[in-house]
Amino acid sequence: MTSVIEVRDLKRDYIATKGWVRRRKETIKAVDGISFDVHKGEIFGLLGQNGAGKTTTIKMLITLLAPTSGTCKVLGYDTFGEEKEIRNRINFIFGGEMGVYRRLSARDNLKYFANLYLIKTEAIHTRITELLDLVGLTDKADLLVETYSKGMIQRLQIARGLINDPEIIFMDEPTVGLDPLGARMLRDIIKKLKEQGKTVLLTTHYMYEADELCDRIAIINKGQLIALDTPEKLKHRAKGSDSIEVIVDNLTDELLEKIKSIHSVTAVATSSNEKGIAVCIQCGSALDISGKVLSIFKNNKIYAFTQKEITLEDVYIQLVEGVQ
Ligand SMILES: Nc1ncnc2c1ncn2[C@@H]1O[C@H](COP(=O)(O)OP(=O)(O)O)[C@@H](O)[C@H]1O
Ligand SMILES: [Mg+2]
Repeated sequence: MTSVIEVRDLKRDYIATKGWVRRRKETIKAVDGISFDVHKGEIFGLLGQNGAGKTTTIKMLITLLAPTSGTCKVLGYDTFGEEKEIRNRINFIFGGEMGVYRRLSARDNLKYFANLYLIKTEAIHTRITELLDLVGLTDKADLLVETYSKGMIQRLQIARGLINDPEIIFMDEPTVGLDPLGARMLRDIIKKLKEQGKTVLLTTHYMYEADELCDRIAIINKGQLIALDTPEKLKHRAKGSDSIEVIVDNLTDELLEKIKSIHSVTAVATSSNEKGIAVCIQCGSALDISGKVLSIFKNNKIYAFTQKEITLEDVYIQLVEGVQ
C-alpha cells in the first residue's frame, strides 16, 4: 500500500492574547503530536468535536500553515519547504465557505479556475463538461451562481476543487449546512471520486457520514489522536456492542440458560411488560446471533423482535468520554 500522506508527531500551537486590562499570552496546543498515514485511493476521515484540531491539521496538509514541530508529507514531499511540488497535485474544499464567484455562471467559474491552474485551452472544455456532469450541474451550468441553492454551490465547489485533476482532495466539513438530500448527493460524489482512484481526506462531525464513507477513521480529541481504524473495527472494539430485545409470551429457566450460553452474549436482562416478557440480550454482533435467538424461542409466541447495532456515535462517545 502506498502512503500518500505521512504525518509524524505533528504539532501546531497558536498564541492567543487574553484579557482586556492585563493582557496575557496563552499557548493553545491546537494539534498536539499526531501521527497517521493515508493510503492511496482511500477515503480517510478525521473526526472530532469543535476545536479538536481538524481544520488546523488540514491547513498544514494543504501547505497553508507551518507546523510548530513534527513532519507532514504529502505525495512524498514536505508540506513546508517543498510546497511547490505538492500544490498542483492536490486541492481542497472548505464546507460553508463561498470560494466561487456569485456573479458568474458555474461554467465561467470553472473556466476561471482552470486558467489559474494553467490548464491547456484545448483541455478546458472537456474537463469542465466532465466535471459539471459529475456534480450534476450540466443543466444549470450557464445560470449565475447567485441563483443557486446551497447544495448546488457546494457541488460547484467540488467541481472547482477537481479542476486540476488532483490526486488528493481535502474536504473540511463538506456537508455542513446542507439539507439531507444535498448531503446525500455530496456523499455520492465523494464515493464516485474514490471509484476514480482519488484519495479523499475529509473532516466531519456527522458520525453516520463517516461510517458510510470512510475506509478508515482517525478520531482526534484536544489535538491528540485517540483512535485510528476502520469503522467496523472501531465498532467491534467498543464496550456493550449490539443488543437484541425479544418480547415473548413466557420464559422458562431452561430457555434463559440457552440464551445465556450463546457465544458472545455478555448480559441478559428480563422484565415483564403489558405485551409479555421482554428479554434484552447484550451481544457481540446482533446479526450473528439473531437466528439462534429465534430458534431458541421457536415454540413461543414472539410479539416483538428488535435488533440494535452499535453505531459509530456510541463508539465516539465512549472514546471521547474515556479521555476526559
Ligand atoms: N488562528 C487561530 N488563532 C488562535 N487559536 C486558533 C486559531 N485557529 C484555531 N484556533 C484554536 O485551535 C484549536 C483547534 O481549532 P481547529 O483546528 O479549528 O479545530 P476543529 O477544526 O477541529 O474545530 C481550537 O481551540 C481553536 O480555538
Ligand atoms: Mg474545523
